[in-house]
Amino acid sequence: MAVDLLLGLQWGDEGKGKIVDVLTSNYNIIARFQGGPNAGHTLEFDGIKHVLRTIPSGIFHKNSINIIGNGVVIDPVVFVKELEGLDQFDIDYKSKLIISRKAHIILPTHRLLDAASETAKGKAKIGSTLKGIGPTYMDKTGRNGLRIGDLELTDWKDKYRALANKHQAMIDFYDVDIQYDLEELEEEFFDSIKILKTLQFIDSEEYLHQAQKDGKSILAEGAQGSLLDIDFGTYPFVTSSNTTAAGACTGLGVAPNKIGEVYGIFKAYTTRVGSGPFPTELFDSIGEDMARIGHEFGAVTGRPRRCGWLDLVALKYACQVNGVTQLMMMKSDVLSGFKTLKVCTAYNYKGETIQHLPYNIEAENIKPIYTEFKGWKEDLTKMTEASQLPSELNNYIDFLEKELEIPIKIVSVGPDRTQTIHR
Ligand code: IMP
Repeated sequence: MAVDLLLGLQWGDEGKGKIVDVLTSNYNIIARFQGGPNAGHTLEFDGIKHVLRTIPSGIFHKNSINIIGNGVVIDPVVFVKELEGLDQFDIDYKSKLIISRKAHIILPTHRLLDAASETAKGKAKIGSTLKGIGPTYMDKTGRNGLRIGDLELTDWKDKYRALANKHQAMIDFYDVDIQYDLEELEEEFFDSIKILKTLQFIDSEEYLHQAQKDGKSILAEGAQGSLLDIDFGTYPFVTSSNTTAAGACTGLGVAPNKIGEVYGIFKAYTTRVGSGPFPTELFDSIGEDMARIGHEFGAVTGRPRRCGWLDLVALKYACQVNGVTQLMMMKSDVLSGFKTLKVCTAYNYKGETIQHLPYNIEAENIKPIYTEFKGWKEDLTKMTEASQLPSELNNYIDFLEKELEIPIKIVSVGPDRTQTIHR
């Protein structure tokens, strides 16, 4: 069986949690392959809203196994809080949730380092979620990291101590005012590790290989979005992992020729949280309306998200890099009531019209060129069939499908599982 992928195509927050949840009943296994608790995957069903950080979004479905792959970074403290949040749902996570021994661990000092590094950057800060993601991946590629499998060894605390000492020296080097009580942080960390160790640790690449041979269906769940990819995103305003399709191969140990469908998720408009270039950003009341109607506040940090028109140039780029086979358009309902809608179809780049994402998309180099569409007034949130969608929305969808040459298979019209139109 091939492994299907689900990826965000913009700057994250596209609504991946909802779609994984909608698709989960079709899959035996859901596997997260990168990122960590910087993600906040929101799911809504039966009148309940729940945000997942590290745990795959299949956890609420009875029959799915959920894997945290080797490409993920895990903060035991956040993770245990996440488990506690699941208690109300009576989920047997000891059998449904398994963790790769090769996944790396976020230490309390990784979080402190994140804060020190961002503070030292001043105005040039990335707008990190400050969850320790960057420093943990730095230790991974620097070959110093602490991994889940280390917790099964007797000397893991020595390794921990050496790493934490190094981090403290680095925090001092930054020479910024970061207040912390390491003893207190460590107490919480070690307590959380005790709980974490009650879960199953596995060689997940082997597990997934066998599962494929046994004909199990597998969905790899991405976090963040393609434009935050460490290689292909708007560097340096990116996260520290490969959020694109190739990240699923390295983050799970799945061979490229075993990838099946690539589901690309995008919002009917664009948002970004944190710093960095955003060519179609709106600074007027239209942007404010989008943020208000779309409840555009970060699921992890609560920060307001920046809003703007759909950027087709960037979306095309993301589709290319990922090899997207099916598209899913989220939050279409948020655009109801806007008289005119705009889609950026090209950039004016240093006086030239271009249709690709150049090396540097800072505002001073780029002016978006828009195609305008007539908006629709209808409330979409109660619609259940594609035949009910207003003609103006169908025009919008047809245009995007033609430009991207990929079918839009799902149009989401609200946060709930049921507010999902299949085409
Ligand atoms: P970090 O990964 O927490 O270091 O953050 C790096 C950049 O990625 C910042 O601009 C964050 O706002 C952004 N980012 C990280 N995770 C997410 C996410 O799940 N959704 C949206 N933006 C994110």
